[in-house]
Amino acid sequence: MSQTILIVGGAGFIGSNFVHHIASQYPNYKIVVLDALTYAGNLENLEFVKDKIIFIKGNIADMNAVSSVFQEYSPQYIVNFAAETHVDRSIVGPQIFLETNVKGTQNLLEACRKMEIKRYLQVSTDEVYGDLGDHFLNDAPQYFTENTPLSPNCPYAASKASADLFVRSYFETYSLPVLITRCTNNYGPYQYPEKLIPFFLFRAMQNQSLPIYGDGKNVRDWLYVKDHCEAIDRVLHHGKIGEVYNIGGHNEKTNLQITEILLEKLGKPKSLITFVEDRLAHDRRYAMDPTKMREQLGWEPRYPFEKWIDETISWYMEHQEWVDRCAKRSEEFRKQNYDQRKEETH
Ligand SMILES: NC(=O)c1ccc[n+]([C@@H]2O[C@H](COP(=O)([O-])OP(=O)(O)OC[C@H]3O[C@@H](n4cnc5c(N)ncnc54)[C@H](O)[C@@H]3O)[C@@H](O)[C@H]2O)c1
Repeated sequence: MSQTILIVGGAGFIGSNFVHHIASQYPNYKIVVLDALTYAGNLENLEFVKDKIIFIKGNIADMNAVSSVFQEYSPQYIVNFAAETHVDRSIVGPQIFLETNVKGTQNLLEACRKMEIKRYLQVSTDEVYGDLGDHFLNDAPQYFTENTPLSPNCPYAASKASADLFVRSYFETYSLPVLITRCTNNYGPYQYPEKLIPFFLFRAMQNQSLPIYGDGKNVRDWLYVKDHCEAIDRVLHHGKIGEVYNIGGHNEKTNLQITEILLEKLGKPKSLITFVEDRLAHDRRYAMDPTKMREQLGWEPRYPFEKWIDETISWYMEHQEWVDRCAKRSEEFRKQNYDQRKEETH
């Protein structure tokens, strides 16, 4: 019998890449995408698969909208990507993060509880664990494991951690078949150009300054989005119900290193870099220990950074109109977030 998969938030960056992945790997699945099409959601991201999916515009914070999708399609698999995702936006206005990320997730769980579902997977983030700081123990670097206590520092991370706790509670209380994945920073096609890599790429191409927060030495572990999608697929179909899986690729880079790589690839001067007042509560380092993914599910990253950052740059260069259309939706936020920031020297 054909399975129905509901991909929530499937018009965003990672969600749309996952829709492409499922459409190519599981041609027998009926794919339903539910997305509110906020500033970050974009139907253009689904253009290549539009004949293979059913798209529903709807807000997960609205229980009626969620219930009607569940009643109409009775999905067996549900993967939730929908979220407000931009840390800077969560600092400017945290309320919507509570509504979408926490209430929206709880609505989905509640809808699942009333149906016979096979599996619900919550897509979460390394940010829920807080900050590894610059700390090394006995000279060895530290990593987040699935047992690291949750310690979110910004409203975005707090909302994602809260959602994770609701997911866990529905497993413990109602035996709902849930899974949680927590991944590091992704890069690749269709990322909304407010985020570091596409934002800096486009500014650099137009010879505009690249405003780096603080001293630029904040470390993130960068994973190609297709690796993330394959990992989610693996957890969705083979993960142990009720468990958390950390996803990462041991590809740690500072924001400054990422910026310098982009400048070098574009043949632009380092003088475009400016250091600006730091983000509030800016975590210093995130890094995952993905041992459980490797040992229990046989997953390892397949897309090396050196090659796929080039592919990513080429994709954005070939999709400048897509970026321009996205960027127009961000003008107000960009002014609010960057115009008041003082320059700093480091
Ligand atoms: N981008 C990363 O590097 C990264 C890393 C780890 C985890 N994650 C997690 O992965 C998920 C997807 O991230 P992304 O970068 O693709 O985000 P994104 O901002 O590109 O996309 C979010 C999608 O959710 C939709 N959405 C927002 N509010 C909604 C609502 N109320 N109802 C229905 N749909 C709504 C948007 O329209 C958009 O299509 C998020 O849950 C995020 O926390 C992202």
